Amino acid sequence: MKALHLTAFGTEATLTDLPAPTPGPGQVVVDVVAAAVNPLDRKIASGAMHDFFPVTLPYVLGTDFSGRIATPGPGWQIGDPVIGRLDPGTGGAFAEQIVLDAGQLAPAPSRISLETAAGLPTAAATAWQALAEIANVHSGQTVLVHAAAGGVGSFAVQIARLLGARVVATASGSGVALAEKLGADEVLDYRKTEFDRRLRGIDVVLDTVGGEVGARSRRVVKPGGLVVTTPAPAEGAEFVFHTSDAARLAKVADLGLEVLVDRTYPLADGAPALAYLGEGHARGKVLLRVA
Ligand SMILES: NC(=O)c1ccc[n+]([C@@H]2O[C@H](COP(=O)([O-])OP(=O)(O)OC[C@H]3O[C@@H](n4cnc5c(N)ncnc54)[C@H](OP(=O)(O)O)[C@@H]3O)[C@@H](O)[C@H]2O)c1
Repeated sequence: MKALHLTAFGTEATLTDLPAPTPGPGQVVVDVVAAAVNPLDRKIASGAMHDFFPVTLPYVLGTDFSGRIATPGPGWQIGDPVIGRLDPGTGGAFAEQIVLDAGQLAPAPSRISLETAAGLPTAAATAWQALAEIANVHSGQTVLVHAAAGGVGSFAVQIARLLGARVVATASGSGVALAEKLGADEVLDYRKTEFDRRLRGIDVVLDTVGGEVGARSRRVVKPGGLVVTTPAPAEGAEFVFHTSDAARLAKVADLGLEVLVDRTYPLADGAPALAYLGEGHARGKVLLRVA
């Protein structure tokens, strides 16, 4: 099978022929349909995450995928459409086949294409973990979602709305209309408006940008409010450490979320896909089409 193989940190992963995986007890093999590219894939490939997610080289990149069961196992039949998130320490999603424990999979949602469903695992489940589990967002609250047109942000807008909150968002350019379309009640173009001059009394901020955006976010929350951050631990904010969890993923896949797809590359173009994501201006998810 073909896979995007990383042989040294700081180099480009290359498409390589690897032996097809063989399942052990309780495991299944998935024929991958699509995989999603996440900022974490870039961080792992650079070697920057080695203290948090030590990986052994050579390493097949990728955590998020959709596909069909090729070799069945407990709870799954041949052909079942599935989504999943591999642990970053293991990787393996940017490949034609994956072997994993049957309990690591969730059913793919039926109302979107299987290819598009690959965009859900890390980004949507992180947004859920941050807003529903950590911040306990509920009806009557106001939530500020930064980078609302990005991978995590585009799901966070929808999830905050589903949880009953009023949603204020930051984005720029074409991202403003996208954030509105996803359900944001008010969108600030961060290139034109300084959000911390405009906003006060926010219950929960989801900061997926970090740095000075995180620091300024603390000024807009009401007493007792919360800033939840994803890029890195920061003083005065609750850091989300996203963990792969098939039960959470199944719940999130059932929410009826729209998956905004920015670009889809063939598997062989994993390097340009990662480079595009690294520019930092994705509108929703960047996918790799595998089959
Ligand atoms: N801790 C965890 O477990 C965890 C889980 C998931 C993700 N993360 C991290 O969370 C971060 C975001 O991930 P992602 O997948 O959402 O990234 P992404 O899709 O690459 O985010 C891109 C978006 O960020 C927007 N953006 C950039 N600067 C901005 C600013 N100053 N204000 C508002 N929006 C801005 C861009 O909008 P414009 O084009 O308009 O600039 C673009 O739409 C990454 O650092 C990732 O590693 C962490």
